[in-house]
Amino acid sequence: MKPRIVITRAVFPEHLAALREQYDVRDNQPDIAWTPSEMAAAFADVDGALVTGSDRIDAALLAQAPRLRVLSTISVGYNHIDVAACTRQGVVVTNTPDVLTETTADMAWALLMATARRVTESERWLRAGLWKQWSLDQFLGADLHHSTLGIVGMGRIGQAIARRASGFAMKVVYHNRSRLPESVETECRATRVEFDDLLASADHVMLVLPYSAASHHLIGAAQLAKMKPGATLVNIARGGLIDEDALAEALAAGRLFGAGLDVYEGEPQVNPKLLALNNVALTPHLGSASRATRDAMARLAISNMSAALVGRRPAHLLNEAAWPIPTPAA
Ligand code: DGY
Repeated sequence: MKPRIVITRAVFPEHLAALREQYDVRDNQPDIAWTPSEMAAAFADVDGALVTGSDRIDAALLAQAPRLRVLSTISVGYNHIDVAACTRQGVVVTNTPDVLTETTADMAWALLMATARRVTESERWLRAGLWKQWSLDQFLGADLHHSTLGIVGMGRIGQAIARRASGFAMKVVYHNRSRLPESVETECRATRVEFDDLLASADHVMLVLPYSAASHHLIGAAQLAKMKPGATLVNIARGGLIDEDALAEALAAGRLFGAGLDVYEGEPQVNPKLLALNNVALTPHLGSASRATRDAMARLAISNMSAALVGRRPAHLLNEAAWPIPTPAA
């Protein structure tokens, strides 16, 4: 008998076809997110699951998935998964780092440039038919070149963002729990500073760190007040890092020049206070969204799941304590 798997959201047809050859597949190609009770029903008798960053995998769901042995997320972030509960239940968890690093760094730059140079705001104005003449002071932006970029979270994606900054002759400061090896700092032309110093000195601040209880609302009213007046803020990581009400206030008051957001605390809902503002560029969680990268992420997630299901150590295992799984399902 083939192992049974569930795929919570639509995947590329060629991946689905390949999976069907190997597994008894329960899919969701209509791509309408399942309700908690639909999720529970879909997980009730499966050995493996391919999930995405928008699926909440908590202890309540796991309790209704007694056969589950492998949970493979098509994302690098895994704050949507209760990994400790998975470990307790003997469920191996895997993710998809590395393959999305460069694409996500590109998107961070797209958002930074759109924010600093008011690309989305001026486009809305143009499409509304409001452009009657060129003017010297139209949509004046903030310069990127020769400015200071502050990166909070200098992992793989943060480093890829920093490497791109040298083309703009920017000074790069970063904040991380610990200092990076000197060779990496040299390659990224980046200097480690304390968090408050980064806020006070950067013209453009980028959030690239993982979300957890410890980083919840890392940027709130107090931190926004410490930022350089007229600075910009870009969030490419997770919405919960920012207190969005406080950000909307700082933007409305003109304390910040603008913000570029790809992620939101209650996504896909977006805080209406942010929607009402012009000086914020908003995209719908597109960080890794190139065809090639999403394909690579799905392939990697499938290969992590398939390896674990036959008792081979997956390349990107998040909970060592759950490995090896007691009885390979195939
Ligand atoms: C990731 O890989 O974590 C992206 O944010 C998509 O969820």
